[in-house]
Amino acid sequence: YLPTKPLLKSPIPAGVLSTIEKSKQLAAWTAVDRHIKPTYRVIGIGSGSTVPYVVERIVMQGDEANENRVFIPTGFQSKELIVSSGLSLGDVDQYPEIDVTIDGADEVDLELNCIKGGGACHLREKVIAEAANTFILVADYRKNVDFLCTNFKSGVPIEVVPFAYAKVLHNLHSALGSPSATLRMAVAKAGPVVTDNGNFVIDAPFSHEAMQDPYKIMARIKMLTGVVEVGLFCHMAQAAYFGNVDGSVTVK
Ligand code: 5RP
Repeated sequence: YLPTKPLLKSPIPAGVLSTIEKSKQLAAWTAVDRHIKPTYRVIGIGSGSTVPYVVERIVMQGDEANENRVFIPTGFQSKELIVSSGLSLGDVDQYPEIDVTIDGADEVDLELNCIKGGGACHLREKVIAEAANTFILVADYRKNVDFLCTNFKSGVPIEVVPFAYAKVLHNLHSALGSPSATLRMAVAKAGPVVTDNGNFVIDAPFSHEAMQDPYKIMARIKMLTGVVEVGLFCHMAQAAYFGNVDGSVTVK
């Protein structure tokens, strides 16, 4: 089932873009121009507010470039974006090898490790990133940091099965160094956020010291029974593009 009215609006017209939106667009367009080669047939599409600019640029490559391509979504939002942009939708079941995936990020460190899952899509995002021969990040300048958990204060998103959330929260508070980890609540605290996979999300802030070695934290959290996936993507991205206010792009 796909709604006829897009849930995610098309990118704002260029003339009225805010500085931050311009930065996102700049990063997205640069990454598409550099990494979506004419021969590529299977393309992963991430989630979040930067990704519509990725799709915008792909559509600008024209019908001829896109007619033999298939686009693999990382969640409900990107599925709807692909369909409403007139691109062909595929699934990782049919296409377990993807040429390139472009996705947003909540923060990216010096080693191209990143936090993802601000939109609660990180399980599917990680599957689609891992299936890709090349994984590229796009973001505005605020996401470019030396160490994770610098500006993104809510911390590392962790998808958990609902039955285990209290136990995993207790593990994070008592043994894993995240005493302020919380269950993510929906707007107006109507109840927990539920992912596309029917799970809950815990947000776990960590200190800068802990984030010197994000892989170690990721591995420890993944070992907790009930954890489905951790929004730390370590050693996965080949490059990250950040749009800056002055119109330049920083490439990591
Ligand atoms: C969703 C994500 C997003 O890619 C991440 O939150 C970045 O989003 P935005 O482009 O809106 O800053 O991981 O789960």
